[in-house]
Amino acid sequence: MSSDNAIEVAVLGAGQMGGHVIEHLADSPLVRAITVYDRHPERMEDLKQRCGVKTAESLEQVLSDPAIRLVFITASNNAHKELSIAALQAGKAVMCEKPMATTLANAEAMVEAAETTGGFLQIGFELRYSHLYTKVKDWIDEGRLGRVLNTQCTYTTSAWGRHDAWRTQSKSSGGMFGEKLSHYVDLPRWWIGDQVEEVYAVCAPNVIPYYEVHDNYHCTYRFTNGAVSHLTFMMGPAATFRGDPLQNAVSQQAGDGHALRYMIYGERGAAETDVFPRSIKRWEFGENDYGQTSEWVQTETWEPERDFSYFHNTHDQALDIVRRVVKGEPPKTNPRDALETTRLCFAAELSVKEKRPVRLAELNSHQPQLPSSDQRKDS
Ligand SMILES: NC(=O)c1ccc[n+]([C@@H]2O[C@H](COP(=O)([O-])OP(=O)(O)OC[C@H]3O[C@@H](n4cnc5c(N)ncnc54)[C@H](O)[C@@H]3O)[C@@H](O)[C@H]2O)c1
Repeated sequence: MSSDNAIEVAVLGAGQMGGHVIEHLADSPLVRAITVYDRHPERMEDLKQRCGVKTAESLEQVLSDPAIRLVFITASNNAHKELSIAALQAGKAVMCEKPMATTLANAEAMVEAAETTGGFLQIGFELRYSHLYTKVKDWIDEGRLGRVLNTQCTYTTSAWGRHDAWRTQSKSSGGMFGEKLSHYVDLPRWWIGDQVEEVYAVCAPNVIPYYEVHDNYHCTYRFTNGAVSHLTFMMGPAATFRGDPLQNAVSQQAGDGHALRYMIYGERGAAETDVFPRSIKRWEFGENDYGQTSEWVQTETWEPERDFSYFHNTHDQALDIVRRVVKGEPPKTNPRDALETTRLCFAAELSVKEKRPVRLAELNSHQPQLPSSDQRKDS
């Protein structure tokens, strides 16, 4: 039952993510109606049958409808810039999925459009809503870890199949770093709360033969305050999973090679988040006659039914964005903040390509190029 101030919302992109967002929006009393648009009419039709949404015949139909106040952009990455800017210029509030765009120039153009129109633009970094990671942020804000100096992320997952073609190609995905790892550099930025000064990333030759993008990264970020964040990523070793990683898949993937673990190390204590054992832990540091001590003081776990809210909390993100738009509040994450995370992704790609550390300041004058399969074969 919708409330009196409920709004109409559109979803642009009727693929896997568009379907999730539509299911989430059905839980909001602040949403009166949902219109979906996709270049493939059969995908819209499927959502109409399953979820009772309206369908639009064209993007123009969505943008010229004054009843639609907010659009969720869940199209593939190379459509993000065009759709976001058109929607902002049409006076709509915009939530755009990560990664912001397939080039840094396009991401900058999106932020400029939000600033010149004064419009609402939030990028889909839903891990900032996920209990697993907000818990760490709360501990940091409460001073339990002290100043965070060091984070380490180990991420191993299964390969995308050939049917996910746009994701595996450089131009249409914008690179693996933005498409898969933007969440996992956004989190340490959020926790450490400082600017990254320099990044160094290397990739081993690919194992997955049909990827144009890289299938692995070893990446280190150095922040201006001296903190360091490291990310090791391998796509492919974990058992092939044909389901949807945003669904309740944690149980099915536990123990089959999937891993997604952070160690967060501060001056006064440490925390660990570990998705597949459903675990979050905290240690406190002290001192005794022996020397530095570390005491394991807190553990939390959660039931499988809560995987969604602990891990990829796209549900609460969608409902919060609707609430913010209805109440006239700004985005939870400023688009310039999301742009900084996007800059880190492109800095990592540039570091890999040029086989050298990259200072973030360089990106102002240097638009990184994505790897092509020919370049990668040389590496
Ligand atoms: N936040 C997350 O954790 C998360 C998870 C999965 C996907 N995503 C993001 O969501 C987006 C969609 O991913 P997906 O898995 O749903 O992909 P998908 O391939 O299942 O769906 C993408 C849809 O976009 C449509 N599309 C492409 N260009 C369009 C345009 N100009 N106008 C209208 N529709 C257009 C395609 O026809 C397709 O139906 C991607 O940006 C992806 O990175 C985010």
